[in-house]
Amino acid sequence: MTWLVTGGAGYIGAHVVREMAGAGERVVALDDLSAGRAARVPREVPLVRGSSLDAELLKRVFAEHGVTGVVHLAARKQVAESVARPTRYYQENVGGLATLLEAAAEAGVRRLLFSSSAAVYGNPGAVDLITEDAPCAPVNPYGETKLAGEWLVRAAGRAHGMATACLRYFNVAGAAAPELADTGVFNIVPMVFDRLTRDDAPRVFGDDYPTPDGTCVRDYIHVADLADAHLAAARHLSGAAAGSDLTVNIGRGEGVSVRELISVIGEVTGDRRTPVVEARRPGDAPRAVASAERAAAELGWRARRGVREMVASAWQGWQLHQGA
Ligand SMILES: NC(=O)c1ccc[n+]([C@@H]2O[C@H](COP(=O)([O-])OP(=O)(O)OC[C@H]3O[C@@H](n4cnc5c(N)ncnc54)[C@H](O)[C@@H]3O)[C@@H](O)[C@H]2O)c1
Repeated sequence: MTWLVTGGAGYIGAHVVREMAGAGERVVALDDLSAGRAARVPREVPLVRGSSLDAELLKRVFAEHGVTGVVHLAARKQVAESVARPTRYYQENVGGLATLLEAAAEAGVRRLLFSSSAAVYGNPGAVDLITEDAPCAPVNPYGETKLAGEWLVRAAGRAHGMATACLRYFNVAGAAAPELADTGVFNIVPMVFDRLTRDDAPRVFGDDYPTPDGTCVRDYIHVADLADAHLAAARHLSGAAAGSDLTVNIGRGEGVSVRELISVIGEVTGDRRTPVVEARRPGDAPRAVASAERAAAELGWRARRGVREMVASAWQGWQLHQGA
């Protein structure tokens, strides 16, 4: 098989490209470099610069590289921006996916893996572990585009005899190598690093939630484990029946509170200043932790790396990019 990885120069995409190529899969990366960096893609992997909204380009890439499977990660991912510019998010995340699916079907591609998100669940209420059968009720346009994307993927899979998988990532952190680190400041780990680098205390948004220490509880997953999960899912798809679909959480199944995470960051960075508590942010669920059982049963995959490893590897990457 030859896999096209869209968003392959992005934070997660570059890890997926490296993992799949390292495991002997043939891989081609596509990225418009709007948020990615070409240097993240290994030299031996062809990088096509262009957009997944460009039907003609996709047609060419599928033909020239003999693509037989797609891992679709290219998307806009900033929640606040999605609230301000919902049409752009629907156009790029849902419209881009429709263009890609059409081109893939025409080219005879029969395997597709889609980057979804825990954002599809919205505020899951008082559940210990979220299973894939939990109701989906996203609370922002970003999450809506991921849920609509899943519907579209399953419908197109059925219509065109494609085996599909939707991976719902929980909170991704860490780096497999410093140069692959997340350079955006949208997730909690880089946000705390950013505060510390500016000589400010980390911020905690609300400490009166109904959780053991009052702060929100999340399921953090190392990006290297997430890349392993993609490889496992790609191999699962290679043997899956035409038109079949799989929807699976990718998390550790363990909750970590914001206070606990900040304390690990303090240990790793040596900067243990006391966080400042601010008002709750609208839309933040008290607890969002994956059930990781379906991924184990269907893909034979479980996360292996813990929170300390995530923070330590992210910190190395942060320092490299600060010095750059
Ligand atoms: N980072 C997380 O915590 C997280 C959690 C859940 C889901 N996801 C999803 O994982 C995927 C990858 O996220 P990431 O964190 O690596 O983000 P990222 O911004 O680093 O990567 C996205 C990549 O896609 C590229 N891209 C965007 N639009 C494109 C287009 N139309 N055509 C070609 N390339 C395009 C960007 O240049 C970038 O390299 C996204 O679909 C995101 O929604 C991320």
